Amino acid sequence: MLGIIGGSGLYQIEGIRIIKEEKILTPYGEPSDNYIIAEYKGKKLVFLPRHGRGHKYPPHLINYRANIWGFRKLGVNKILSVGAVGGINPLLKAGDFVITDQFIDFTKVRPNTFYEGEYTIYDETDNKDDLVMEYLRNNRVVHIDMTEPFCEEMRNILIKSCSKLGYRFHSRGCYVATEGPRLETSAEIKAFSLLGADVVGMTLVPEIVLARELNIHFASINVITNLAAGIKGDRLTSDEVIEMMSKKQEELKNILIDFIENLSDNFNCKCEDVLKGAGI
Ligand code: HPA
Repeated sequence: MLGIIGGSGLYQIEGIRIIKEEKILTPYGEPSDNYIIAEYKGKKLVFLPRHGRGHKYPPHLINYRANIWGFRKLGVNKILSVGAVGGINPLLKAGDFVITDQFIDFTKVRPNTFYEGEYTIYDETDNKDDLVMEYLRNNRVVHIDMTEPFCEEMRNILIKSCSKLGYRFHSRGCYVATEGPRLETSAEIKAFSLLGADVVGMTLVPEIVLARELNIHFASINVITNLAAGIKGDRLTSDEVIEMMSKKQEELKNILIDFIENLSDNFNCKCEDVLKGAGI
């Protein structure tokens, strides 16, 4: 089943039928909001607004572990994340879509793993017989591979949807994740550019890391809401980010629908091998 993490209202799409809202409790605390269980042409989907409805949680205080564990509890095995980013690479324009394929992590204070060795907290109600539970129950220390962090199958479907719809998009991009909530200095953006980052945002990490730790396929589609600090010269505002996100909402929904229609259950990627041999 597919899970979609994004802004609120993303699930209000013609053809998507909302079945119910579900409150999920996890040993890591409360997810950002109730999960919206929906259906599109016989396929079940689950939506979660990352910041909670009404944008309650800033990026550094989102309970990422609860959000991702909640998806697992609902049976989600693929997550599509939708995000807003600043453009660093000069080839990128405000309003472009970017299907990221790499990230660099500059976050600082977020719990970023489920596997905490002796300090592991786990869900005793989870009776799945998989490597996730084996590692958690045995307090294992786990180092997962991140060489190619995104699901290639999901990325390819996103690429096809964007090309078919004729939107301006980029099929690759390196996302630098900052801690926030403040925006970056122009010196930071210059440094990130030298490191090879194309876009900057505050939420991809640890979302993708935690999903991978649970063997969940993960891909991300991002809207360039603004050019990053110092690229254009002007000061940045949340207003322009919100304005661009709402301007691109309809296109995003069209991409989502096409993506959902083309999503198959038979993936040929390596995502589900990530836990094999990863425990110590
Ligand atoms: N920096 C960090 N996060 C962002 C930006 C930005 O410029 N735009 C949208 N999210």
